[in-house]
Amino acid sequence: PEKITNICCIGAGYVGGPTMSVIAQKCLGVKVTVVDLNQGRIDAWNNEDLDKLPIFEPGLKEVVEVARGRNLFFTTDVDKAIDEAEMIFISVNTPTKTYGVGKGMAADLKYVELCARQIAKVSTSDKIVVEKSTLPVRTAEAIKTILKAEGNKVKFQILSNPEFLAEGTAITDLHYADRVLIGGDQDEEGQKAIQRLVDVYSHWVPKEKILTTNVWSSELSKLTANAFLAQRVSSINAISALCEETEADVDEIAKAIGADSRIGSKFLKSSVGFGGSCFQKDILNLVYIARSYGLDEVAEYWEQVIMLNDYQKRRFAEKIVKTLFNTVSGKKIAILGWAFKKDTNDTRESASIYVADYLLNEQAELYIYDPKVKEEQIYADLDCLNTRSEEENRELVHVIKDPYQAMDDSHAVAILTEWDEFKRYDWDKVYKSMKKPAFLFDGRNIIESNALVSIGFSTYNLGKAK
Ligand code: NAD
Ligand code: UDX
Repeated sequence: PEKITNICCIGAGYVGGPTMSVIAQKCLGVKVTVVDLNQGRIDAWNNEDLDKLPIFEPGLKEVVEVARGRNLFFTTDVDKAIDEAEMIFISVNTPTKTYGVGKGMAADLKYVELCARQIAKVSTSDKIVVEKSTLPVRTAEAIKTILKAEGNKVKFQILSNPEFLAEGTAITDLHYADRVLIGGDQDEEGQKAIQRLVDVYSHWVPKEKILTTNVWSSELSKLTANAFLAQRVSSINAISALCEETEADVDEIAKAIGADSRIGSKFLKSSVGFGGSCFQKDILNLVYIARSYGLDEVAEYWEQVIMLNDYQKRRFAEKIVKTLFNTVSGKKIAILGWAFKKDTNDTRESASIYVADYLLNEQAELYIYDPKVKEEQIYADLDCLNTRSEEENRELVHVIKDPYQAMDDSHAVAILTEWDEFKRYDWDKVYKSMKKPAFLFDGRNIIESNALVSIGFSTYNLGKAK
C-alpha cells in the first residue's frame, strides 16, 4: 500500500510500549497493535488504572489515556496482529547471551529469530519488517534469509530503525527526537519501504531530523551511539578518581570542559557507575563483533569502558568500607536509590545492585529505600547474582518504605540514584537520628556537601577532595 494504516509491534516492553503509544497518539489514521507473549504485561498495559501500567515513565499514562482503545491496542493475539499489519516492528529483548559461544558478550538473538519465523509463517500479505530492537550489524541479513525461507509469495522489506530514547525521559525523547534513523535497502523497493516509515514519523518529527542510510550503517549507529555515551561517563568517572587525589573538583572540570562546544556539556556527570539494560550489553556486543572480525585493538579499546565502570562501582563500595574503619560487619547502612537512574522503576544493571552485593559480602545490614522500585524486584536483583542464599539476602537486606526510617540509627547513608526527592530531605533531622560519626556517601554528587558538613555529617563525594 502507498500509506501505512496498520502497524504491529512485537514486544510490549520499555521500548515497544512507549514508542508505539506515541506513534498511535500522533498518527490518527494508523491502527497500532502491540503484542507480547507475556500475558501479565499485556494485562497491565490494559489496566483501567493508569498508575498500574507495567512501566513508569513521566508523561506515559497521559499518552496511553488518549490513544488506548482508539487506535492503540495491547494483546497477546500475536498471529492475528501480524497478519493484519502492513508494517511490523520487532521490539523484543536482545540480552547478553548467558550460554554457549559468545556467552557473556554476544547479544542473544533467539527472540528476534523467533519473531522472524513467526512473521514468515503467518503472513498472507506483503510486509515491511522493522528492526526496533538493538541488533548486531548485519542481523537484517539473517532476518531476510529466514523470512524468505518460508517460500510463500509474500514479499518482505527489512528496515532498521533503532530507538534512541532514554528511560525516565522516554516520552519527551520520542516527542522531540534529536533524530530518527531509518536504514533500508538501496534499491527501488527498499527506498519505497523507507519512505513509508518516514511518512509515519513525519506526523510529528521535522523532515530534516529523519535520517536515512543503508541498513548496516543504521544497525551499527545504534551500538556506536551507546558506546560513545557510555564512554563519556567512564571518561569523567576516570577523572573523578584522579580528582580525589589532587584536590581538583570533578564537577568544576565537567563544567570547564563542557563549555568547549566540541566536547559539549551533556553526559558528563560523574557517578557511581552507569547502569541500565543497554550500555553494558551493547558495548559487550560491540567488543564481540570487533573480535569476530579479528579487530582485537578495536575490541580492547571499547572493553576499557566497561572495565572502568566496574572499577568505579567497586571503588565506591571499597570507599564505604574503608571509611567505616575497615569494617561494616553488622553495621546498618542505608541505601537511597535502587533504580539505575532517576524517574524510572527499571533496575537492570543498576550500580546499586553491585555496591549492595559488595557490602553484603562484608556482612553489612542494608536498609534500602527507592521511591519507585518494588521490594520483590530488589530481592530478585540480589538473588539473581547467586552470591548468597535467598534466605541470607532476606536476613541482611530490609526494604523500607519510609526513607527516614531507613536512615534512622544507621552508621552511614549511601546515595546511589539521583532522585530529586533526596535533595529535599530534612538532613538535619536525619543527622540527629544517625549514629555518630554520621557518614554520607553521595554517589551522584546531588547534595550540597558544605551544607551537610555544617550540619555535622562526614561526607564523601565522588571526585572531590578527600
Ligand atoms: P523488554 O524486556 O522491556 O521488552 C521486551 C518484550 O518482548 C518483553 O515483554 C517480552 O515478553 C517480549 N517478547 C520477547 N520475545 C517475544 C516474542 N517472540 N513474541 C512476543 N513478545 C516477545 O526490553 P526493552 O527494554 O523494551 O528492549 C527491547 C529492545 O530495545 C532491546 O533490543 C534493547 O536493546 C533495545 N533498546 C532498549 C532501550 C531501553 O531504554 N530500554 C532503548 C533503546 C533500545
Ligand atoms: C541509554 C541511551 O542514553 C539511549 O539513547 C539508548 O536508547 C538506551 O540507553 P538509558 O540507559 O535509558 O539510555 O539512560 P541514560 O540516561 O543513557 O543513562 C545510563 C546510565 O548512565 C545511568 O545509570 C545514568 O545514571 C548514567 N549516567 C548518565 C551518568 O552516570 N552520568 C551521565 O552524565 C549520564
